[in-house]
Amino acid sequence: TRTPVNVTVTGAAGQIGYALLFRIASGHLLGADVPVRLRLLEIPQGLKAAEGTAMELDDCAFPLLQGIEITDDPNAGFDGANVALLVGARPRTKGMERGDLLEANGGIFKPQGKAINDHAADDIKVLVVGNPANTNALIAQAAAPDVPAERFTAMTRLDHNRALSQLAKKTGAQVSDIKKLTIWGNHSATQYPDIFHAEIAGKNAAEVVSDEQWLADDFIPTVAKRGAAIIEARGASSAASAANAAIDHVHDWVNGTAEGDWTSMGIPSDGSYGVPEGLISSFPVTTENGTYKIVQGLEINDFSRARIDASVQELAEERDAVRALGLI
Ligand code: NAI
Repeated sequence: TRTPVNVTVTGAAGQIGYALLFRIASGHLLGADVPVRLRLLEIPQGLKAAEGTAMELDDCAFPLLQGIEITDDPNAGFDGANVALLVGARPRTKGMERGDLLEANGGIFKPQGKAINDHAADDIKVLVVGNPANTNALIAQAAAPDVPAERFTAMTRLDHNRALSQLAKKTGAQVSDIKKLTIWGNHSATQYPDIFHAEIAGKNAAEVVSDEQWLADDFIPTVAKRGAAIIEARGASSAASAANAAIDHVHDWVNGTAEGDWTSMGIPSDGSYGVPEGLISSFPVTTENGTYKIVQGLEINDFSRARIDASVQELAEERDAVRALGLI
């Protein structure tokens, strides 16, 4: 039998946590033969609700679930963690400036980064879901100098999956026919979903679509603003699809992408495609044996270049803002 993997989830009592924990415990995160031990990290006000969720996890009698611990202490929460899903964050409230938002999140992600640095397992993999995800990942990474920088990633997989679905709808294809789509940049309204290298049943997606106006005025804004559209329709944020994307992100990171395809992850830039080194930006990546590689050699046309640059510019501004606040 395999040794259990320790998975820590922050914000475990929240909406995404509720949609996420059951799928981790049922084997969708790591594999149907990998036992897991869950750590739920919450703030004191969230502990009671987390206990309720843990009661339900017990009641599922998941064969793979080998234990649940609940804590409000990051040092205990990340002790021995192999995978950390940082979901809990401070949302933007009315009238809040970006500086205030970044500072409030710095108060969460800096101590969590330090606790990961001091207590997590050597093979720790971190996915930041809580927004602003890319910059929160940067803050946590900066607080964890002993952990290899590339272990800190940010979630753009929900954007990737949304783009797949919109493209399938437009072309009448199945999502399973679409390969090599890319989200570039920040998980924000400036993100750039790129179909110029995507393939639909082996044909170039941009040529199949052959409608640049649809790309610019429909596809890109629909993907980028999908979160707001869900809130408008559902009266609540997109928790289940976000949880699903977190599962996909870690699953592919650990288990590898399919031959002839890639996925999108927010990862520390190595300078590829003109993205300044160190920014946590979304790239096309392939994964194998628990490591990822940026897909190299893609030709970037002017349409794409302008949009990638704009999103990367926003990331650079967020980095400069958290640097000025002393958070990195
Ligand atoms: P929620 O408000 O339902 O839950 C957040 C939970 O985090 C709460 O239970 C809260 O007590 C907890 N929390 C707050 N500070 C914490 C801390 N320091 N340590 C541990 N727990 C803490 O929010 P929801 O809907 O679950 O969303 C969580 C985050 O995910 C939000 O920041 C949201 O913007 C983000 N998100 C990101 C997406 C992406 O694609 N990257 C997609 C959808 C949501």
